[in-house]
Amino acid sequence: MNLILLGAPGAGKGTQAEVICNALNIPTISTGNMLRAAVKAGTEYGLKAKAAMDAGALVSDDIVIGILKDRIAEPDAQNGFILDGFPRTVPQAEALDAMGVTIDKVVEIFVPDETIKQRLSGRRVCLDCGATYHVDFKPSKVEGVCDVCGKELVIRKDDQPETVISRLKTYHEQTAPLKDYYLAQGKLVTVTGQDSVEETSRLTLEAING
Ligand code: AP5
Repeated sequence: MNLILLGAPGAGKGTQAEVICNALNIPTISTGNMLRAAVKAGTEYGLKAKAAMDAGALVSDDIVIGILKDRIAEPDAQNGFILDGFPRTVPQAEALDAMGVTIDKVVEIFVPDETIKQRLSGRRVCLDCGATYHVDFKPSKVEGVCDVCGKELVIRKDDQPETVISRLKTYHEQTAPLKDYYLAQGKLVTVTGQDSVEETSRLTLEAING
């Protein structure tokens, strides 16, 4: 099964991707995590992506489409995958269609902007394995330490309040039009992401299996 998780920054795409990945045994492909790893490693495209990411803008379509194309060609993605953070523009969605990839379902996780601002202020992430926590709603077992790999948890640079406002604006202007794109293909299902992580997982899995 090939799935897309759509939603504003902080809506809970990464959190739900972890749950779906375990439930369906298919990998999560997060362009955000791949770009952060490239920035950390100082690769050529990491250097190109950094300024846009720090400003809460989108990285150029050609860079992101290139890394996505390489990633979905890997062996572990041949039985299905969850796309978290891709596509983010209509040209990216068109590129995916042009690659011949069949998307089974697009789940939009809807959360209002005000809730998102609160959530991102409490988010902590592991830059090593990509696991995500929240100081109140999903704390790690030991404060500041990743449950999965034991590395340090940090605040993402783009979770500063002013960058969050830019990211939300970018989402509404450039990514939200994808709802109409996938609605026209009969693939869009919207779930509310305002309840607990567990209840959102229940609704998301129901939407996928329905
Ligand atoms: P990316 O890493 O994809 O960031 P994003 O889309 O902004 O999404 P987030 O990772 O911030 O949020 P999320 O929805 O995964 O929420 P999470 O589960 O963490 O992209 C970063 C940047 O890379 C972009 O700005 C752009 O520059 C670039 N980029 C990436 N892909 C690109 C592309 N395709 N094209 C161009 N540029 C691209 O949850 C958030 C917090 O809330 C966590 O603390 C979590 O624990 C908590 N939480 C989750 N669910 C709940 C709940 N139900 N109740 C309470 N708390 C909850």
